[in-house]
Amino acid sequence: MCGIVGYIGKSKNVGDILLEGLKRLEYRGYDSAGIAIVRDGELFTDKMPGKIKKLEEVIGKQDLSGSLGIAHTRWATHGEPNRINAHPHYSADMKIAIVHNGIIENYITLKKSLIAEGCEFRSDTDTEVLAHLIERFYNGDDLEFAVQRALELVEGTYGILVVSASEPEKIVAARNGSPVVFGVGDDEYIIASDVAALLKHTRQVIYLEDQQMVVATPKHFTTMTVQNEYVEHHIHEIDWNLEQIEKGGFDHFMLKEIFEQPETIRNAMRGRLIDETGRARLGGLDMTVDEMLEVKRLVILGCGTSWHAGLLGEYMIEEKVRIPVEVEYASEFRYRNPVLEEGTIILAISQSGETVDTLAALREAKSRGVRCMGIVNVVGSTIARESNAGVYIHAGPEIGVASTKAFTSQISVLSLLALMFGRQRNISQSEGQKMIAALKALPDQVTQILEANDSIRDISEKYHKHDNFLYLGRGPNYPVALEGALKLKEISYVHAEGYPAAEMKHGPIALIDENMPVVIICPRDAAYQKIIGNINEVKARKGKIIAITTEGDDEIIKMADHVIFIPKTLDFLYPILTVIPLQLMAYHIAVMRGCHVDQPRNLAKSVTVE
Ligand code: G6P
Repeated sequence: MCGIVGYIGKSKNVGDILLEGLKRLEYRGYDSAGIAIVRDGELFTDKMPGKIKKLEEVIGKQDLSGSLGIAHTRWATHGEPNRINAHPHYSADMKIAIVHNGIIENYITLKKSLIAEGCEFRSDTDTEVLAHLIERFYNGDDLEFAVQRALELVEGTYGILVVSASEPEKIVAARNGSPVVFGVGDDEYIIASDVAALLKHTRQVIYLEDQQMVVATPKHFTTMTVQNEYVEHHIHEIDWNLEQIEKGGFDHFMLKEIFEQPETIRNAMRGRLIDETGRARLGGLDMTVDEMLEVKRLVILGCGTSWHAGLLGEYMIEEKVRIPVEVEYASEFRYRNPVLEEGTIILAISQSGETVDTLAALREAKSRGVRCMGIVNVVGSTIARESNAGVYIHAGPEIGVASTKAFTSQISVLSLLALMFGRQRNISQSEGQKMIAALKALPDQVTQILEANDSIRDISEKYHKHDNFLYLGRGPNYPVALEGALKLKEISYVHAEGYPAAEMKHGPIALIDENMPVVIICPRDAAYQKIIGNINEVKARKGKIIAITTEGDDEIIKMADHVIFIPKTLDFLYPILTVIPLQLMAYHIAVMRGCHVDQPRNLAKSVTVE
């Protein structure tokens, strides 16, 4: 959730490098930020509540030169987001500084014993115990040793960077449960919680594993375990570029990412469809035909939007493959005692590949000997590395906290999975070919929907002051209703509920009056006639109806207050189209309400705490 970045190397402007890195990481957390630079054997440091911009305004006037430093952008877990609790945290003598992403679970016990020894704490954070522990073990010239001793005492998760004024040519990083990526540049090293902060300097990276650390000096580095055993490192090449993590003329990352969807959906399918045989190929799954036939049940795990994608996977895979699919919140799965009989496969869906609940659920399933596959966006992320096999969605970096393009790419990949497995069982070649033709038409169809952006903005304008919304859908468009409501909640702080349209009668219908906008997702699919009945029920109670339906549908025009048309596709693929107007509506309403679209309050892009 928090972002950390550190630098050591040839540059003399470490402050600028760290601030730039923090801005790239700000989507990971944005309630406070801080920086520490080691220069001439001294520690220069400052921190501020609020966004990076505020820190920059304050420290921008100071001397930020130097060649070694660390910085942090925070998403508060322990202690309110004020200046004192912002990172870095320091040793008592103010010579050691640490930034931390994660949670030290036994910090209360450690804090008590440190206080008993006379240690004075400045903050309410769990992190500060680490700073004091490192100080206790430090003799002034072996920072990595002191970090190792301190980490031995710690339970919990950490991605940390540590510097000491006494060793002005050394930075120590360690990881357990929170991502740390070590960028290998040309006479410089940059270390961060994700690659976005490194890209300007290098594309050569080493992903630290849990319980690993790296010690870097200006021209050399060593990777080892926190138990001090040397470990071989492998350098990976990142294929993202700087342009992808910039707004490219859009006002917000979210809008840019919504408009990228024709391309990202195309990328999710590229090279994976075989027209001649009507099949899909997902090489990363690494499964033989026999292995595919042995799969008896699929359990899909995810959180947030990825969980919604999972729900859609259930509709798609049960229909096309005819095997039972269960979808579960990763946070629930990990703490129950799920039945995982032979023939079950786990499918973990995660944009970031770092969501701690999804990762822990995956590990739990793996430890029970279940084959685990991942559908992940961030290449080299922990879930991608720890899955037995998997598929990348190739959506490129997603910076907006509210997920958009990752969602449509996830469901594109799930539809390929349904086709691939389905062709081994129930789907004929001609049906497979029909599905491929429909899949290939999607990017242009999404472009067509995006062209209606202005009219979607006009509809949003009419309703942006409303404080409650209801989203209804049936069949595969029910998860779309959930996702539409989630988008609105996340970025505009408007209360919105997604519901299966027919289930509305069992509660939400009581909320409907002339002030309730009801977004109804009702393309011309198998559920269409049924949902017309639900539309009438809303209409009878004077609810304001915003309908998303298939072009050419004259029937809906008579009933709805507003209609947004989408092109025709196969029933199971409608969600990839119907969600687009909902993303745009949420975006426009948030902008009109003056909300911070890319960094909504209290949220973080990558949730690395439970
Ligand atoms: C956070 C983000 C959501 C995302 C969810 C799961 O809540 O704000 O946009 O859907 O985490 O993240 P993941 O990276 O696992 O897909």
